[in-house]
Amino acid sequence: MDRLFRRKNIDELIADSERPDRRLNKTLGPWSLTALGVGAVIGSGIFILTGTAAAGETLTYHSILHAPVLDLLRHGMGAASTIGRPGAGPGIALSFLLVAFACSFAALCYAELASMIPIAGSAYTYAYATLGELFAWIIGWDLILEYAVGNMAVAVGFSAYFNQILDSLFGVQLPPHLSGPMFAGGVATGAWFNLPAFLIIMALTVLLVRGVSESAGANNLMVAIKVAAILIFVFGASSAIRVENYHPFLPNGFSGVMTGAAIVFFSYIGFDSVSTAAEECRNPQRDLPVGIIASLFVCTLLYVAVAVVLTGIAHYQTLAVAAPVAEALKSAGMEGLRRIVSVGAVAGMLSVLLVFQFGQARVWFAMSRDRLLPDAFSRVHPRLKTPYISTIVAGLLVAVPAGILDIGTLADLTNIGTLFAFIVVSAGVIVLRRTEPERKRAFRVPLVPLLPLVSIGMCLLLMMSLPLETWLRFLVWLALGLAVYFLYGRKRTMTA
Ligand code: ALA
Repeated sequence: MDRLFRRKNIDELIADSERPDRRLNKTLGPWSLTALGVGAVIGSGIFILTGTAAAGETLTYHSILHAPVLDLLRHGMGAASTIGRPGAGPGIALSFLLVAFACSFAALCYAELASMIPIAGSAYTYAYATLGELFAWIIGWDLILEYAVGNMAVAVGFSAYFNQILDSLFGVQLPPHLSGPMFAGGVATGAWFNLPAFLIIMALTVLLVRGVSESAGANNLMVAIKVAAILIFVFGASSAIRVENYHPFLPNGFSGVMTGAAIVFFSYIGFDSVSTAAEECRNPQRDLPVGIIASLFVCTLLYVAVAVVLTGIAHYQTLAVAAPVAEALKSAGMEGLRRIVSVGAVAGMLSVLLVFQFGQARVWFAMSRDRLLPDAFSRVHPRLKTPYISTIVAGLLVAVPAGILDIGTLADLTNIGTLFAFIVVSAGVIVLRRTEPERKRAFRVPLVPLLPLVSIGMCLLLMMSLPLETWLRFLVWLALGLAVYFLYGRKRTMTA
């Protein structure tokens, strides 16, 4: 029993990471970290989910499984048929602000833990040091969900946008049976394989195996392209705003804003991945908090601006389409802008894919170093100094399902997993302040325990705004994880 709650000593964790055969190269500074954060954050969420979140999904979902848990609690079972998933309307900008608020509290908690435990593995490692082995496993398993399932969704989105660009720039399209999911909603579509989704993940895997500084360089370029595309959209399209599109501003009231927030939460996921690079920072104590908070700030500004302009140039009810930003520009007759934004969207998705693959391999690496996963996953390439086996396995794990599945709705699953990780990290700050009050913290969260408690409360509220179905899937995933832990990981750490 004791073992389940055995905690890793922070000094032991740092010493483990210094072993020469398991040591990563330290090449990243504050700018690269911020770019890494922005790279992970701005992706398919802002370009795709903003539309769904504004318009809502009332028409498509009628089952109790699709109703947000919060609405079921407030309105009883009737919520499923009467409410569905209410959209935020033009008030979607408020949803973005609300999520930014929630994330900034969680970001401060990440920053404190990352600056005192500069080890690869992020929330997983923090949980090991604060809440014990069982919690660490649960979080590690949960992070696999966040990074892997999240990236499958982004890869499928990339494929769809990539095809759009080919069409709008060169007038060619990939054959549908080679560029679509084999299954949609459990039904065969007739397509063979989603080749672009598969190939893009494999290409990025090769880049990541080759080395971190090369990958960071490529990431910086993609970040610059997507930020430029967003700015061009915001300034270029603002002349087409029609004030009447902002009425009614909140068609579904607070409920719509919360449901919208739970959907667009996906677009903020990723800033935490900055902390997965802790072991590869030149000066983690100073640079990590800067990297995490700066990336969150930049993304919030851009998102709110995009939301205001998008709902201003198109009526929110027209935005429930696969590529809402591009569609809105098309309707407004802004073809040139549409092309630029599409290229920016693809660049955005590329960098999200890159950073998530990067972060994922590091979580596996850390879990393997702790013997919760096979030893091979923590092997570092002798010449390239990258965790090549975990990078390749993570690549295949994401690329193959991305080639087969239609996983649009799995963004919700990614959200619930990530919110859960945020809760554990916030709790970890409170626990560590008690158990390790003397340890040096380069960054300290103000007003502990109040602020981490607010963070936990806001994350819970967002989780409750997700559909019942998502909760059930999440619980199944966790149950599966516990089975793997008790049948495999636990036995191995006992003999460590
Ligand atoms: N935040 C990432 C995106 O929006 C996951 O694509």
